[in-house]
Amino acid sequence: MTTLKTDNPIQLIQITDTHLYGNPSGTLLKMNTHYSFEQVLNVVKQKESGIDLILATGDIAQDATEAAYKHFAENIAELEAPFRWIPGNHDSARVMSEVANGTSASDKTIRVNNWQILMLDTSIEGQVHGMLEQSELDFLADGLTAADKDEAIDHCLVCLHHNPVKGNAGWMKDIGLHNKNKFWEIGKQSAKLKCIVYGHIHQDLDFEHEGIRCMCTPSTCIQFKPNVVNFALDQVNPGYRTLRLHEDGTIDSEVHRVEGKSFEVDFSSGGY
Ligand SMILES: [Fe+2]
Repeated sequence: MTTLKTDNPIQLIQITDTHLYGNPSGTLLKMNTHYSFEQVLNVVKQKESGIDLILATGDIAQDATEAAYKHFAENIAELEAPFRWIPGNHDSARVMSEVANGTSASDKTIRVNNWQILMLDTSIEGQVHGMLEQSELDFLADGLTAADKDEAIDHCLVCLHHNPVKGNAGWMKDIGLHNKNKFWEIGKQSAKLKCIVYGHIHQDLDFEHEGIRCMCTPSTCIQFKPNVVNFALDQVNPGYRTLRLHEDGTIDSEVHRVEGKSFEVDFSSGGY
């Protein structure tokens, strides 16, 4: 567990689905993911100051190589704020924890002022969809129960890679969190759970489900078009999210995208 004390509001940045390759010239549907990641980081540097923590919500690497994870850690260090990462379907949880060894990057519980943040691993090696193993469900239940009993914690935020709410495109039907009902059963019991933050479906969403605010954040590379039947890429640029956590439990959040640049992408692709 990490405990941080900062000014209020707490300033978080979510960076997700960087899909980096060990070889910096690697492309995903013709988009160079190292380049697009760097462009997003440049926007963060221009727009943000006083970042307290960066949440990296999976698909850090496309090829699960040590080199890709090291590149992520080296580049994110330019933002001069600590980061925590969780694996997505393209990642190797094992390689990530090896690269994180000796650092706090893989810490799963962070307490900042009167907020508690829990980082969940929904990845299953070799599968696109997500699943919370019993150990992760226990971790979530124990973390939320501990927060409910702790007078120093008033609010909780949970991060995971896979969408715990059905995706809004036909092709996304089977790729989300498969045991999402168990996730919500636990989540609904918490009096302090205010927000759920995820990635995986590469788009900007901000809505309420079961009385809890849910946010999905654009990838730093390719964007998935919402409300379609078959796989399609969206023409919007890569981006990131800011989250300002207030002492009273409210959250201000914005998505910022790279502006004034166009990226090479294969819009005719039928899948990724
Ligand atoms: Fe992804």
